[in-house]
Amino acid sequence: MSIEKIYQEMKAKLSDVVPDVELRIKAELAYEINKLKKEKNAVILGHNYMEPALFHSIPDYVGDSLGLSRIAAEAEQDIIVFCGVRFMAETAKILNPEKAVLLPAKEAGCSLAASITAEDVRALRKQFPGVPVVTYVNTYADVKAETDICCTSSNAAAVVDSLDSDTVIFLPDEYLARNVAQETGKHIIFPTLTGVEADTTIDAQLIGWNGRCEVHEQFTTQDIADIRAQYPDVVILAHPECSPEVVEASDFSGSTSAMIRHVEETTAPRYLLLTECAMGDNIAAANPEKEMLRLCRVRCPHMNEITLEDTLASLQKEQYVIEVPEEIRVKAAQAVERMIAIG
Ligand code: 13P
Ligand code: SF4
Repeated sequence: MSIEKIYQEMKAKLSDVVPDVELRIKAELAYEINKLKKEKNAVILGHNYMEPALFHSIPDYVGDSLGLSRIAAEAEQDIIVFCGVRFMAETAKILNPEKAVLLPAKEAGCSLAASITAEDVRALRKQFPGVPVVTYVNTYADVKAETDICCTSSNAAAVVDSLDSDTVIFLPDEYLARNVAQETGKHIIFPTLTGVEADTTIDAQLIGWNGRCEVHEQFTTQDIADIRAQYPDVVILAHPECSPEVVEASDFSGSTSAMIRHVEETTAPRYLLLTECAMGDNIAAANPEKEMLRLCRVRCPHMNEITLEDTLASLQKEQYVIEVPEEIRVKAAQAVERMIAIG
């Protein structure tokens, strides 16, 4: 596709959110990236939180963590460029050891992934022997390697339900754990520094951790009350990394892709997304007939590290290569593949 065609396509979708002069520059970058992608036999995966110009121009596939893990598992190209954060690129490498997996930014971390270490998981296993461990995919490979099964926001309750155990260790997102407890009917308890024994008076429980998403923890029920006062007919969608109170006060909760589908498949006068703010722009661009309200004070700083400029450099210099030591990869792959098998 020519630069002009890319520019026209971007303009048709993004003229309300990206200034024209920027679109011209971004179209040129997207053209170079797409050319190099073909030459190097690479595939580009883009998370739903990518900035609008990138999201709408270069990815071969876009989606949520689960969808992109599935696609990564089946990728046939020599190189996978992951436009997302490090734990996502690591998951692609775990599933595809023979491919080169590139992350366009050096760090691109995640507050949840940073909240827990492999040693923390080993300590929890000692404290609660025999209790199965579920970890959110928003963790690094060494943590996944200590885990029985992974989950994402779109299958967390199904994964917990699939385990033949009344007590489950669920790591590391406190809010997702509380939301899963709500859905599965389990009680949630948190180990403290002094240690907490599982409560034997409760039939079914989740043992949680105190990690939080630095973006989703910022939304409050007051935000919801304020928006509903102004727009009583608004439909509010919240990611399950938001607090249970926020999820409860919303109309729909689901993974990033589930929220996109909900907007596409329903007709409400207007929508408000309680999630990372680039996604609101991406949905608005894809559904111009729908009104998306903005509560855009939170852009994930880690997702924001991935730019078109860095993606071009990533392909040109084949950087930053994701490496996972083989003994960790093999163990982590079992946990990720068990999750993928559940759906
Ligand atoms: P999804 O799996 O819903 O795309 O979420 C990933 C994430 O990091 C949300 O903050
Ligand atoms: Fe991590 Fe939150 Fe950013 Fe998602 S939005 S990558 S959970 S910090």
